[in-house]
Parts: sequence; structure tokens; C-alpha cells
Amino acid sequence: MGRVILILLLGLQCLPAQKPLARCTDCHSTSAPPLSLVYRRYLMFDSSKERIRKHMVDFLTAPSKEKSAMPEGMKNRFNPQKHPVFSPSDAQRAVQELIEQEDLIPRIVVPKRRNASKSKED
Ligand code: HEC
Repeated sequence: MGRVILILLLGLQCLPAQKPLARCTDCHSTSAPPLSLVYRRYLMFDSSKERIRKHMVDFLTAPSKEKSAMPEGMKNRFNPQKHPVFSPSDAQRAVQELIEQEDLIPRIVVPKRRNASKSKED
């Protein structure tokens, strides 16, 4: 019997952990702005992934109107200071997953030029 319980417990441990972003999408796919829009807004402000990471984690661990990157109208509607607070490690993991999901660089494909030597126009 003990062995069965042990095996069950080990089995549970091996189940894939919930993805960090899963706890965000409940709101962010229904009542809150989609995270891809939020990401683009931060990209406009912060330009680099490192700064986006720092800014978002900073916001998520201690949300405030001053740290918000949302437009005024949205701030008035949603009250950024009431955003759920996350621990630094949860915030880090969720933001990391968001950056990996939204980053455009890996998606850029440079097409090979065909007949490059034959073309006279360019
Ligand atoms: C209870 C619902 C809820 C949950 C859960 C939630 N959010 Fe939000 N989030 C919102 C709302 C509403 C806004 C828009 C208001 C605002 O800007 O804070 C928002 C805004 C944001 C913003 C922009 C903040 C700003 O104002 O600059 C970021 C970044 C963000 N969420 C990330 C996350 C991440 C990452 C998670 C999961 C770890 C998460 N949110 C979980 C409701 C939620």
C-alpha cells in the first residue's frame, strides 16, 4: 500500500507544472487587455527586452499608476494600482514566457534571392 502511495506521489510530481503565463491569461484573454498588446506598448516605451523585463517585473511586484505604461484612458478605466501583485519569481517567470512568446526576432525569415546573378534590374 505504501508503495502505491509513493508511486502516486512521484507520478504527481512528474506532471508538467502549469505554465507561468497561464495564471495571467484568465484575465488577459477576457476582462483585461490582451498581453500581446501590452507587450507592444512596453516595447514602444522600453525598446529592449532587458528593459521590458525590468519594467514589467517592477510593475507586477508593486503595481502603481506611475509605473503603468498604459494610455491615460485605460489607466482611468482599469486602475493599474489594483493589478494583482505577484512575487518576484512568479513575475520573472511569467514575463520571461511572455517575452519568448512575443519576441519578433526569431520569427524574421530573410528570403533567399533567386537568380541573383541573372537579374540586371538590381
Ligand atoms: C485579475 C485579473 C488579472 C490578472 C490575473 C493579471 N492581470 Fe495583468 N492586467 C489586468 C488589467 C485589468 C490590466 C489593465 C490595467 C493596468 O494597466 O494595470 C492589466 C495590465 C497588465 C500590464 C500592463 C500594466 C501597466 O499598466 O503598464 C501588464 C504588464 C500585465 N497586466 C501583466 C500581467 C501578467 C504577466 C500577469 C500574470 C503573472 C497578469 N497581468 C495577471 C488584469 C489582470
